Amino acid sequence: MAQTTRDGLGRARDVLRRFTTPLLPDDYTQLINPLWSTRELRGKIESVERYPDDVIHLVIRPGWGVPVEFRAGQYIGIGLRVDGRYTWRSYSLTNTPDTEDGLFAISIRAVERGKLSNHLLGSAKAGINVRLAAPAGDFHLTNPIPEKLLFVTAGSGITPVVSMLRTMQDRNLESDVKVLHSVRKRDDLVFGDVLDSFGAMVNYTSESGRVGPREIEELVPDFAERVVYACGPALMLDELEEWAQANGMEIRTERFTLDRASAAKGGKITFGTRGEVEADGATTILEAGESIGVQMPFGCRMGICQTCVRQLSDGHVHDLRSGETREPGSRIRTCVCVAAGDVVIDI
Ligand code: FES
Repeated sequence: MAQTTRDGLGRARDVLRRFTTPLLPDDYTQLINPLWSTRELRGKIESVERYPDDVIHLVIRPGWGVPVEFRAGQYIGIGLRVDGRYTWRSYSLTNTPDTEDGLFAISIRAVERGKLSNHLLGSAKAGINVRLAAPAGDFHLTNPIPEKLLFVTAGSGITPVVSMLRTMQDRNLESDVKVLHSVRKRDDLVFGDVLDSFGAMVNYTSESGRVGPREIEELVPDFAERVVYACGPALMLDELEEWAQANGMEIRTERFTLDRASAAKGGKITFGTRGEVEADGATTILEAGESIGVQMPFGCRMGICQTCVRQLSDGHVHDLRSGETREPGSRIRTCVCVAAGDVVIDI
């Protein structure tokens, strides 16, 4: 039903486009409702809940054209104007995809030097419009859901897992689930109700230190029979991946920062007629351009807003976020792609 309505709206926008040239339909539609845009995805903050220790929960109502379907564990991109320019970040959805309200729920903890998180903490209120990037991400519940699961999370790493736990709860799924969550101190704990309902083991690192593979093996003796989902700091994930591999276990991880490790060998990057530079396989096309003064537009710098998309005229690039290799002629996100050999970018 929701899809049919959206298709109808899409057709209406096409018709409108024909009658509003040379002005764009947005010039008219936004006078009526700022969430109606044909050029970008938008949403409106529906409600804000503030919690101690710099945490806020936001519920966002997506505007026209935003794909509202998602999988438990995926994230959305949020863009807001901060200090005169759009700043983008991705946040894991914490609600379950099974509700029919079509809303997105996210939880944000203000982090040091976190431009958008601090801005939202200070100024988010119901009614504010935001830009959105559609739900995405490979860290989600599989179908069918494994019979035995082990979730290992730390800090904000709990957010995608909360969506998975809520989804399993709503669907009355009978998987055997163990949750091991670490936070720095007791006041930092959020989603206590969800964690309690799964009998989660919560570790306070200020009191008992970090939990590593050795502690997990003691707390979850049948660890080797479980599929592991892990989300938290990179060091923790590196350690868990190594441990899972050594024990022949299946592990899925989510990293909140761009992982620059790849097999891409780098190469010469030519930016149209504006210059060329040699770059290694860890330097993004966007950064390589900036290093020689070739400025390209950008927003989030983490592969979500698509502001930096350019055409790859020749050669191959590796997408650090998706792990894909992109062919000549593709439109690539220059902020997350690195050269896999010599490439030419159309700018
Ligand atoms: S700057 Fe946002 S996707 Fe590249």
